Amino acid sequence: MITAQGIELRVGARTLLSSATFRIAAGDRIGLVGRNGAGKTTLTKVLAGEGQPAGGTVSRTGQVGYLPQDPRTGDLTQRASDRILSARGLDQVVRSMRETEAAMASEDDATRDAAMARYARLEARFTAAGGYAAESEAARIAANLGLEQRVLAQELGTLSGGQRRRVELARILFSGAETLLLDEPTNHLDADSIAWLRDFLRGYAGGLVVISHDVELLRVVVTKVFHLDATRAELDQYAMGWDAYLKQRETDERRRRRERANAERKAAALLAQADSMRAKATKAVAAQNMARRAQRMLEGLEEVRVADKVAKLRFPTPAPCGRTPLTATGLSKSYGSQEVFTGVDLAIDRGSRVVVLGLNGAGKTTLLRLLAGIEQPDTGTVDPGHGLKLGYYAQEHETLDMDATVYENLRAVAGDLDDTRVRSVLGSFLFSGEDADKPARVLSGGEKTRLALATLVVSAANVLLLDEPTNNLDPASREEILAALRGFEGAVVLVTHDEGAVEALDPERVLLLPDGSEDLWNEDYLELVSLA
Ligand SMILES: Nc1ncnc2c1ncn2[C@@H]1O[C@H](COP(=O)(O)OP(=O)(O)OP(=O)(O)O)[C@@H](O)[C@H]1O
Ligand SMILES: [Mg+2]
Repeated sequence: MITAQGIELRVGARTLLSSATFRIAAGDRIGLVGRNGAGKTTLTKVLAGEGQPAGGTVSRTGQVGYLPQDPRTGDLTQRASDRILSARGLDQVVRSMRETEAAMASEDDATRDAAMARYARLEARFTAAGGYAAESEAARIAANLGLEQRVLAQELGTLSGGQRRRVELARILFSGAETLLLDEPTNHLDADSIAWLRDFLRGYAGGLVVISHDVELLRVVVTKVFHLDATRAELDQYAMGWDAYLKQRETDERRRRRERANAERKAAALLAQADSMRAKATKAVAAQNMARRAQRMLEGLEEVRVADKVAKLRFPTPAPCGRTPLTATGLSKSYGSQEVFTGVDLAIDRGSRVVVLGLNGAGKTTLLRLLAGIEQPDTGTVDPGHGLKLGYYAQEHETLDMDATVYENLRAVAGDLDDTRVRSVLGSFLFSGEDADKPARVLSGGEKTRLALATLVVSAANVLLLDEPTNNLDPASREEILAALRGFEGAVVLVTHDEGAVEALDPERVLLLPDGSEDLWNEDYLELVSLA
């Protein structure tokens, strides 16, 4: 159980949450929502004990399983399966057993006997900790999250960011923690895994806080909704499911607007009366009192909720280029003995739109990295055409310099754009004056996405390589990005699980991985998008 008592959250001079009191007990399944940058991640961090509130207290009993929004770097030489098993302390035993197995094959009798005795002891410990049943449970969870046996045997350092995050999710679900805190758990999952996760969470007996932009997940899983209102810096708590919450919140907002209008009207009447009375000396004191009362009335009002702001976006006209700005021939890539794909050909014509489809691990991100020149293919070549200007949006925001400020990140790619123009792009991506000086590291998930997209905007790219550009975005920002994508005149290569993004792109072609075959786009492929 987690108990938060009057907690206050602040970053820099800004108050994210002025005071909130609540409890997360077994059986509570809470959806935590709010616009990008509202402070959801900051709040969960504090609940997990990884940050301190500016005021109030948080107390925890029982184990807490926390999935952060950004994948972390821990010990990268650890095997993925060991990482998952470590949630119940099984990893040590399994590793020792594995080491002992080698010694059991020894030629030397004494060594072998000692190893066998040791193995028996280890196996007893293993059984006590849940043993083979636990191990197969871990494997089952991993498989349901799209992690194959082969991937589990790999070291974490060799996995993609998305795979690493799934390993982390598997570890937390396997841990059996009393309270789960999951920050955007569906970001790297395919449709099957998401469906499985919904069921898993719906049946979870412990407490749960989940941050997600996946409406379907919220709808079937949560029994309570906490809305972190960025404008009022308050946590509105609704003890009801998703659909009821949506209705109730609308009613609440209407009531708030009405109350405000009423109070304003009364205050105005009071003030008018006070003004007319002030003229008479005998009533001056009464007039003053009245004016004061009107003032108090207005002060007691909450700020009107301005509709959540969104960036109004437009990708600029791309720099001129030749007929085929990017060509790839015979691309192959392997990691170790694991072949990702072979012999992929792709020609990107000016203004053309291609969607890359393939199951998890089929190499979609790898292909974009090769096209972007961030990684080298084992065979084949990537040939820039005349006038090519690439814009690459990386799933893990790896193109951002996390130590540089928001402004510096944009400046670095802005070429000879003048300062005013750079500032104005920042503004249209909702980075205000003081936000511009934040290091990229402290930005929220959605803000990082916005910054990365802003760097594409100033670069006047004529070929955009987009890897899951709608992850982390709140619904309003997502719509805005998709509208911008719809109007973009340059070429786009898109990797996404988001059907809406594909529809916005209105692609001409589809590239299927890992076999690398190409086809003209047709509606039937839309079904594959969320599955892939
Ligand atoms: N150290 C810091 N200095 C300044 N601002 C910070 C710092 N850490 C966080 N912030 C700001 O606090 C705000 C809240 O961030 P947080 O990550 O909690 O948002 P979020 O609700 O999780 O958003 P998202 O939906 O985009 O993930 C953001 O505007 C972020 O830029
Ligand atoms: Mg966040």
